Amino acid sequence: MKRKQAMVVLTVLVAVLLLFTACSGNKTQKGINTGGSYKGETALKRIGIVQVVEHPSLSTIRESFVKGLEDRGFSEGDNIVIDYQNAQGEQANLKTICGRFANHRYDLIVAIATPSAQMAAGETSEIPVLFSACTDPIGSGLVDSMERPGKNVTGTSDLVSAKRIMELAQRITPGIRKVGALYNSGETNSAAVIADLREYAENNGMTLTEATVTNSSEIKQAAQSLAGKVDAIFLPIDNTVASAMSAVVQVAVEAKVPVYVGADSLVRDGGLATYGINYQALGDETADMAAEILKGTNAGDLPVRTIKDMEIYLNLATAEAIGITIPEDIINEAAEIIRE
Ligand code: TRP
Repeated sequence: MKRKQAMVVLTVLVAVLLLFTACSGNKTQKGINTGGSYKGETALKRIGIVQVVEHPSLSTIRESFVKGLEDRGFSEGDNIVIDYQNAQGEQANLKTICGRFANHRYDLIVAIATPSAQMAAGETSEIPVLFSACTDPIGSGLVDSMERPGKNVTGTSDLVSAKRIMELAQRITPGIRKVGALYNSGETNSAAVIADLREYAENNGMTLTEATVTNSSEIKQAAQSLAGKVDAIFLPIDNTVASAMSAVVQVAVEAKVPVYVGADSLVRDGGLATYGINYQALGDETADMAAEILKGTNAGDLPVRTIKDMEIYLNLATAEAIGITIPEDIINEAAEIIRE
């Protein structure tokens, strides 16, 4: 009897022990990805995301990119690892980050905004570089052709039309004759939109005054230099300006000058109006391209994608602060209205 009992206890013990080893063995294999029957080294694709600076539009793109990847079956810790780095507006940080991504031979570098993309493309000619929201990929030297990028670099563009934004501006505050443009002269993404604005000004007998900066600490003074002299201020899709938007808005509201902008987030941050694209859609489009690349397509074989649909974004709180009534028909046309 005693012997039988002892045997049962021993059997149970052995069974429990076996079960325990099996479970923990499994866990180790998945967690640290040791290979074997698991997919081995290639199972976890490593993605480096580099963002030039912190501002709402870029963060929206990043978040919708990550969600878009998930929607397409790529989830963090499951089959991808994401290393997200923000350069805080510093060129030197961009170089360190992109250099490290390249040295670690990541599977994909996702560069948000033009300055990050230019740096990433300069650091590697082999690892696929997928840019997001680069206004002018050709003028910024990222690709030679939108249809056939060819090398290791492709992505999405957020080109908007200064002409259409100014047409909207003339409907909201008719009689604009003097426009002031504020941007970072080093951002090639802004240059493209400013060229379009210059053409519009020339064709419509308007005077254009340009105030350029090289970093965000100069923004307030540059805005002040324009505010008293112009009927409206125009901001392109400029990362430096976007990161110091509150300073521009403060100056403009004090001087009661309308500020027309190149992106929805600049309206949310106090700009009066834009005719712009949806950055959530752009982030998702970028994720679609990333999924293709992760499945093996060469980046250079994927044409650069753009968002064709443009919509009106209005800030009624700003309108009130500068004493402007936006016509009812424009309010009815708007995709998004900021009220406070
Ligand atoms: N288009 C910008 C670039 O090419 C990046 C960008 C996206 C942006 N959304 C913005 C800049 C909104 C300012 C505001 O670098």
